Amino acid sequence: MSESAHGAEAGNGPFPVVIAGTGAYAPARVLTNRDLERMVHTTDEWIVARTGMRERRVAADGEFTSDMAAEAGRRAIADAGLDPAAIDLVLLATITPDLPFPNTACLAQGKLGAKNAVCIGLEAACSGFVFALEAARAFVASGAWRNILVIGAEKMSAVLDWSDRSTCVLFGDGAGAAVVQRGRRGRGIIGSVLGSDGSLSDLLQIPAGGCRRPASAATVAAGEHALRMNGREVFRHAVTTMTRAAREIMDRHGLRTDDIRWVIPHQANMRIIRAVAARLAIPESRFVINVERYGNTSGASVGLALDEAVRDGRIREGDTVMLLVFGGGFTWGAMLLEWGGAK
Ligand SMILES: CC(C)(COP(=O)(O)OP(=O)(O)OC[C@H]1O[C@@H](n2cnc3c(N)ncnc32)[C@H](O)[C@@H]1OP(=O)(O)O)[C@@H](O)C(=O)NCCC(=O)NCCS
Repeated sequence: MSESAHGAEAGNGPFPVVIAGTGAYAPARVLTNRDLERMVHTTDEWIVARTGMRERRVAADGEFTSDMAAEAGRRAIADAGLDPAAIDLVLLATITPDLPFPNTACLAQGKLGAKNAVCIGLEAACSGFVFALEAARAFVASGAWRNILVIGAEKMSAVLDWSDRSTCVLFGDGAGAAVVQRGRRGRGIIGSVLGSDGSLSDLLQIPAGGCRRPASAATVAAGEHALRMNGREVFRHAVTTMTRAAREIMDRHGLRTDDIRWVIPHQANMRIIRAVAARLAIPESRFVINVERYGNTSGASVGLALDEAVRDGRIREGDTVMLLVFGGGFTWGAMLLEWGGAK
């Protein structure tokens, strides 16, 4: 695992790096478990028991990842009290880009009018939001950019095989965003522990559409443009890896579980979240959970949950918050924040 404690150093040094604003967007259309019962051989009871999900959002036909990203980004910029022109970098994580290129950060930037921003796309599947936050932290700490708009956005509904009940019930669409900048007070982003293991990439992927298997009539006929997953193996790795990452970051910063006010886990599955909570001995009541309403929105999930918990007043100034993610790659990470400290 790679580790960073630069935020902590920054906290004791000239300036902390903070999240100055958050925003989120979820499409209006709700797809319930009952709706899915009419589409594939499944039941509301099975989905709730195995995943905790009751409904998820699905983007409209003409609504793309860049549209959701732009709306979440607009809200985060307003929350930070900035004008879009003040953003100098858009860092967007997605596995469901509008196009193979140009990157979706460029497309979202155009839509939200962040005309002075450089645009970088980043792909780390369900860990994308935290990987992008860590990149933003390093860029701000280095002085390379000042006001970074981090976005995790996904139109997962576009990459699902809607006849495969083992995957299509699990995912949803949405976007979460945060503005990262130098802060005045507090410690902001305290540090992170990130990791990746490419030897396990076969367990969760979209097999075709890249240079290994370019799109062809054969790849389309074989359904290879849809997400494929070994659910049981992914489940096992997610639980052990998220638990390990959480323990590592707490050890590194000398924190005990009681010091963590909120854990915001990737919203993959209620059973994964429960298993991690039990292993860490952190009560479920201190986890921010919205998987029942949004399903797994991959790179958007932590941003969506963070914005929700900030907006409804659960996360308050001074709270220690742990973001905890796992996704295809495999990729994983834990990030500690001390909430607040913006200008
Ligand atoms: C996908 C997942 C919910 C399946 O739960 P599970 O307890 O492992 O279930 P299994 O895969 O063993 O399948 C059990 C049975 O349910 C069936 N099943 C699968 N999906 C179903 C559905 N939507 N409705 C009803 N039955 C379903 C399977 O076909 C299987 O039937 P069989 O025993 O006759 O073959 C679970 O493995 C999981 O959450 N994995 C992690 C997925 C994830 O979070 N991925 C993203 C990580 S970033």
